Amino acid sequence: MRFQLSEEQLLIRQAARDFAQQELRPGVIERDEHQKFPAEQVRKLGELGFLGMMVAPEYNGGGLDTLSYVLVMEELSKIDASASVVVSVNNSLVCYGLEKYGSPEQKEKYLKPLAAGTQIGAFCLSEPEAGSDATSQHTSATDMGDYYLLNGTKNWITNGSTASTYLVIAQTHRELGHKGINVFIVEKGMEGFTVGPKENKMGIRGSDTHSLMFSDVKVPRQNRIGEDGFGFRFAMKTLEGGRIGIAAQALGIAAGAYELALAYARERRSFDKPIADHQAIAFKLADMATQIEAARLLVYKAAWLKDQGQPYTLAGSMAKLYASRVAMEVTTEAVQIHGGYGYVREYHVERLMRDAKITQIYEGTSEIQKLVISREVLR
Ligand code: CAA
Repeated sequence: MRFQLSEEQLLIRQAARDFAQQELRPGVIERDEHQKFPAEQVRKLGELGFLGMMVAPEYNGGGLDTLSYVLVMEELSKIDASASVVVSVNNSLVCYGLEKYGSPEQKEKYLKPLAAGTQIGAFCLSEPEAGSDATSQHTSATDMGDYYLLNGTKNWITNGSTASTYLVIAQTHRELGHKGINVFIVEKGMEGFTVGPKENKMGIRGSDTHSLMFSDVKVPRQNRIGEDGFGFRFAMKTLEGGRIGIAAQALGIAAGAYELALAYARERRSFDKPIADHQAIAFKLADMATQIEAARLLVYKAAWLKDQGQPYTLAGSMAKLYASRVAMEVTTEAVQIHGGYGYVREYHVERLMRDAKITQIYEGTSEIQKLVISREVLR
């Protein structure tokens, strides 16, 4: 086993760290407060190649490995999870799905601008009545020959109003259950496609989360990805990789809060000494550091397995389950270490605590990860 990053991976991590400090940190509190999407920062992330990192260079991607992507997610998420979720969804769910399963024409038309970061994408699976139970799709796609007629509503869609390209999961043959589900590429501006108001969220408030409504939207047949009935498998396969990205986001949120708590504990004095010299605080920091390191090993291992072409369903779900739990626990302790300061906006840790919660919900709740893990270990 080699617990060492390559020169290239170290450089990429440093570039992400610098970007997070210089471009994401200024204004992150205001963006959270006013639910402002980090549009300018996302544009720059695209220019740096972070929005299509793992896509092959022939489709405008960076041709990098999953471990590099995880390092970038971790660094960006230390500062701004509302920006890093854009990187996660665009890379793991949208670009990956198109590159792996799209037709040559779909890759040419849709993948190239997404990988170049000149456009961003959205992955549309969740519905008002289909969250964890993703097989129960109510959105319908009726086969009309040259096109499909799309009707229904999607909920909590990341990049809902800022995306140009939407991968929409819908039921075509209801009698076949999940085997009758398809996935379609839907363009912003298609007639009958409307975006609902932005959700007023507890955390990742800068991220652009909306419901989407489809009313008799004519989607050309050539915009269906894969064979008829491939949609559910498509969703599961892309989410497997997505879960590694969100695990890295959770890891970054935890590490960001820990770094702030460590610095604060060294600086803040009580009872005539820095609070870090009180065992009550030092032991908290010891636990936080250990939890973060354990989460990091799980996340890096899942990424490494994917890069080796080995199965990573189990490792990805374990990484997400554990890292998101660590994110909640570590951010809560970081607030505690900050005392009263931790409860106000300027000290960042309360935002990280609110942001941490979403990592236990999106791309499969913790309960779904336990379902996936238990099925794998009992198989
Ligand atoms: N790879 C390939 N196929 C898979 C698979 C996988 N990882 N997991 C399941 N499947 C296949 C199964 O083999 C089965 O196919 P067959 O019948 O042909 O064998 C089919 O899918 C149905 O599987 P199950 O019988 O296991 O279905 P289930 O209903 O019992 O459980 C589930 C499925 C795992 C719970 C799934 O519904 C799930 O993952 N739910 C969570 C959904 C989710 O993660 N949503 C996130 C929304 S996206 C998001 O959050 C993005 C964002 O904006 C940030």
